[in-house]
Amino acid sequence: MNLIQDLRVLSRLLTGVRKSGTSHAERMENFYAGQAEDYDAFRQRLLPGRAELLSELTFPEQAVVVDLGGGTGANLEFLPATAHAKVRAWYLVDLASSLLTVAAERATANGWNQVHTVNADATAWQPEERADIVLFSYSLTMIPDWRAAIDNALEYLKPGGQLAVVDFTVFEESYDEGLQASSAFARAFWPRWFAWDGVLLHADHLPYLCARCPSSSLQQGHARLPYMPGSRVPFYRYIGVKT
Ligand SMILES: C[S@@+](CC[C@H](N)C(=O)[O-])C[C@H]1O[C@@H](n2cnc3c(N)ncnc32)[C@H](O)[C@@H]1O
Repeated sequence: MNLIQDLRVLSRLLTGVRKSGTSHAERMENFYAGQAEDYDAFRQRLLPGRAELLSELTFPEQAVVVDLGGGTGANLEFLPATAHAKVRAWYLVDLASSLLTVAAERATANGWNQVHTVNADATAWQPEERADIVLFSYSLTMIPDWRAAIDNALEYLKPGGQLAVVDFTVFEESYDEGLQASSAFARAFWPRWFAWDGVLLHADHLPYLCARCPSSSLQQGHARLPYMPGSRVPFYRYIGVKT
């Protein structure tokens, strides 16, 4: 942990995302440009469950993976070595070119030739080949038209392919997946808190995912935010299999 790095990230988070551009793409790039180099160290403590999600996935030989809102390519660091060896193509799609630069440097430094960075919108971009795995790690909440991103992903996910999501949420009382509902405080507070930085916590994400692609694995947990002792932000890990 480096305090100067953290202060740079925190000042960006305090500024918020709303006023940083006129389009969503512009807002994403402007929001992340000043924190691209510091992103990983801070998010390592902010975004739990990514390594667990990747270790729960089944990678077929010659796997084609699409990492939507893949940012700096941090997921490639969490990927078990056995899975790395099976990946033929890893498309890392993001609107923030500054984060993609970090991802491309990471891929080059590690000799990960199968990584292709793509500066595009997850709601519309499609690969030229079908995918075995589509991944959203803490990106669904940053995509305003998240239904379009899921629908688009399911168009190019192979039948039997895995859709994997890890993200913050709030759990409604109506969930019937054996999940514990979030407290009234959490349901009221966290969506407002995160919205400042363009992170849109929707109770509808998980039901929509499960309706479109039945879950084969679903876990819930609570994240502690850096510099906020006692904080417990609900998050989930979901893997669905396309029928
Ligand atoms: C919180 S970051 C998560 C990055 C990475 N997946 C991780 O786990 O560290 C959310 C990412 O989603 C990207 N993003 C937001 N909207 C997007 C869209 N419509 N299409 C592609 N990427 C998008 C942002 O630029 C950002 O890199």
